[in-house]
Amino acid sequence: MNRKKNPFRASLGATPPVLVGRSEVIEDFALALDEGPGFHERVTLVTGTRGIGKTVLLNALEDTAEERSWWVISETATPGFVNRIRDTAYRRMVGHLRETRQKLSSFTLAGYALNWEDGETHHPDTTLRDVLTEFLYLQHQLDERLGQAPVGLLITIDELHYSVSDEVIDFGTVIQHLVRENADIAVAMAGIPAAVKPLLASKEAQNPVTFLRRANRVELGAVSDEDVETGLVKPVEAAGRSWDPQACGAAVAACGGYPFMIQLVGQWSFHYAQGDVIEADAAERGIAKAQRKLGQLVHEPALADLSDVDRTYLAAMARDDGPSRTAEIAERLSVSPQYANQYRRRLMEAEMILPVKTGYVDFELPYMRDYLREHIVNDAFSLVLGEDGQPRLPGL
Ligand SMILES: Nc1ncnc2c1ncn2[C@@H]1O[C@H](COP(=O)(O)OP(=O)(O)OP(=O)(O)O)[C@@H](O)[C@H]1O
Ligand SMILES: [Mg+2]
Repeated sequence: MNRKKNPFRASLGATPPVLVGRSEVIEDFALALDEGPGFHERVTLVTGTRGIGKTVLLNALEDTAEERSWWVISETATPGFVNRIRDTAYRRMVGHLRETRQKLSSFTLAGYALNWEDGETHHPDTTLRDVLTEFLYLQHQLDERLGQAPVGLLITIDELHYSVSDEVIDFGTVIQHLVRENADIAVAMAGIPAAVKPLLASKEAQNPVTFLRRANRVELGAVSDEDVETGLVKPVEAAGRSWDPQACGAAVAACGGYPFMIQLVGQWSFHYAQGDVIEADAAERGIAKAQRKLGQLVHEPALADLSDVDRTYLAAMARDDGPSRTAEIAERLSVSPQYANQYRRRLMEAEMILPVKTGYVDFELPYMRDYLREHIVNDAFSLVLGEDGQPRLPGL
């Protein structure tokens, strides 16, 4: 058995050995950091389905900022995130800058006066805006003192969700103020469309989420087969192995442009390889294993978020080999087309299905059809009506 270390990173949030297909987004962001305040890409909102690579893109943007010696605060949009950002900024950045100031002051050459402001204490009611304002002030002073390029702050927020819309609004208000004041600040946020769309659609009078609406929108989608191939081949070569060309072709096709599959197929094909070449049989086993893993890691949780009726609709779709005719699905479910239309709309909002041509829908996630066929479609042939008269899938 060959013991070369497996280079792939098939787990959510884990930075892949080679990040493919995202260089334009990263370059645009880098440019915005370099060009100074006011650049549109400095506030970026990334959306995309599960496993498409939102978190690892945020990680890459953080690296971009760190390469420029920027400060980075990385948060997840769970309740309390605004205060967590405030506390991190206070402890790490303001604390550090105050210390630096003190050191610098004691080394200050005669005649050089630093003009620092007072206000050493962190009151419990200090707001995020207070802390960031102090940070920006101290950092600006230091940059001037050292004659260096302005050191900015990047805040990333992952798993943006409408359930914390109040905090998103608070956060947005602070950022909008600072951006207006030409502060050296950048924000990159990410979430699945179903969780982000309600924030963008908010109809509140003064709509304080305008900062989200105005943000640079990055809708992450599938990557090209060429990129998939790069993502599969480079890490293997760097690990001292290679792909048999036919095996590689099969692996690329199995990924369907879906980044998570690059890591899963790569990891398992590499694992099953007998020698230094990944042959067709290793790739075949790897692909099958990758599909099962994808089911556990992506399909199962995605389905768990849906209502019974929505799952029933998907199960009815899975009987087709390709795109499903919506009128036909309504018939299969024994409901009116109008009623079926409601599920269809909800499922589209949840990014589970997408319209492909007039009157047809298809699955958004790769291998969802296969997963449903294996797991619940048998039950879908025996749909039952629930107490509310709506179709139910037994066992779900
Ligand atoms: N551009 C890419 N090239 C190669 N691999 C990638 C790329 N983007 C993501 N991956 C891989 O796909 C997997 C999923 O990535 P990530 O966790 O960023 O997805 P996500 O969109 O944040 O998913 P979720 O919505 O579940 O949080 C990881 O294993 C990661 O290494
Ligand atoms: Mg993620």
